[in-house]
Amino acid sequence: MRKNIVAGNWKMNNDLAQTQELIADLKKQVSADPAATIMVAPTYTNLYPAFEALKDTPITVAAQNMHQNANGAFTGEISAAMLKSVGVETVILGHSERRAYFKESNELLAEKVNTALENDMTVIFCFGEELEDRKADKHFDLVESQLKESLYHLSKESWKNIILAYEPVWAIGTGETASPEQAQEMHAFIRKSVADAYGSEIAEEVSILYGGSCKPGNAKEIFANKDVDGGLIGGASLKAEDFLAIVNSF
Ligand code: G3H
Repeated sequence: MRKNIVAGNWKMNNDLAQTQELIADLKKQVSADPAATIMVAPTYTNLYPAFEALKDTPITVAAQNMHQNANGAFTGEISAAMLKSVGVETVILGHSERRAYFKESNELLAEKVNTALENDMTVIFCFGEELEDRKADKHFDLVESQLKESLYHLSKESWKNIILAYEPVWAIGTGETASPEQAQEMHAFIRKSVADAYGSEIAEEVSILYGGSCKPGNAKEIFANKDVDGGLIGGASLKAEDFLAIVNSF
């Protein structure tokens, strides 16, 4: 049975005090046996305090990015080993903001995925089309090429540490959500693509999250689709009440 997962991507929000406050709220409100696996991704500087504070809760900590090299002269960068040394076992890679603002290509992301997996980390791999791709009816091809170029070199074994996160760029932070039908249509396409590449057993096991203006008011109908296994939540993950309402939408 594949896992239902709700992950909060806090992006470049919250200093240390705000992070501690949000975590305190989450700890007060989270159920001991939540309806989904819960992860939160604070900024680098707040990873260790978050890990320490969340240790005895069902919530685990993920990083928002990492460098593809093990160490060396890469000023300002963070390695997989550094993340692991502060308790982080999961990393978000390929977020559309990294692709757009930091020019991360499918090829670079393949390297980052390899490094994360070599370090026994779990990867939340993000991908998704821009509005122009959808308008030109190229969204399926675009999504498949993102998967092929960054993930389809992996061994079958590696897929147990991959979580997919489909995020249509036009729905991120815009208030515009993919309709439940659009989400299901794309998620079914993604699962079929994984099945064609790796077989149905792996395709049935991989969790595929939806991201893009997911909120307490729309999570239930999005998660009700058979190929949607949870969400990667941006804005609505910054308030404990909203984030946990999304978790409780299963
Ligand atoms: O990583 C999360 C996604 O970018 C979604 O962000 O929920 O603010 O649209 P959003």
